[in-house]
Amino acid sequence: MSNSPKAENLTWHQTAVTRTDLEKLHGHKGVTIWFTGLSASGKSTLANAVSVALYKRKVSAYVLDGDNVRHYLNRDLGFSHEDRMENIRRIGEMARLFTQAGMVNLTAFISPYRSDREMARQLQPESFLEVHCAADLAVCESRDPKGIYKKARNGIIKEFTGIDAPYEPPDNPELRLDTGVLSVDQCVDAVLDLLEQHEIFIIR
Ligand code: ADX
Repeated sequence: MSNSPKAENLTWHQTAVTRTDLEKLHGHKGVTIWFTGLSASGKSTLANAVSVALYKRKVSAYVLDGDNVRHYLNRDLGFSHEDRMENIRRIGEMARLFTQAGMVNLTAFISPYRSDREMARQLQPESFLEVHCAADLAVCESRDPKGIYKKARNGIIKEFTGIDAPYEPPDNPELRLDTGVLSVDQCVDAVLDLLEQHEIFIIR
């Protein structure tokens, strides 16, 4: 896909209310927390648990979840490498918009390719925190809440991440959590610490 728009004669409009205005309104900064990991590694569970913890602190946080986004916005996409790249490109752009709106956005997508995650990061390098949910394949497969690992092993689902499609773990995520061992509460605390370290709750 080309980087330049198909349409011509476009003019960029500056919004009247800026990101800084909105961050002041919210009382915290906008940021993307990008969860990556195998299916059933706990991305959605953790993203949702963090969003609840943030809600209780009056932080405007919103979860963008792989299965949900694929029902609507990305319903034209499958699981080929090309489609996964387009999936992550759109989510990366959406995440940036949420950040521009001064919100903490938590994305829960397998996002198996390093280059795709890097593309999403480069859209907003100052506001992108990558969290690797590092439960290993054996743990994820034993959980198998949707029964899809079993289908993949039986060849009913093709190109399944971890079985017959790759997962490339991040080399230097801002946070790596062994979600196969740690409790959800321990992981939530670690993510909240990360947000503190990056001064997301402080408005300068
Ligand atoms: S990604 O690879 O493009 O980032 P995404 O997170 O949006 O994937 O969707 C993953 C979810 O789609 C899985 O949790 C699972 O429920 C479902 N799924 C269906 N087919 C596959 C497949 N071949 N590989 C991985 N996940 C699949």
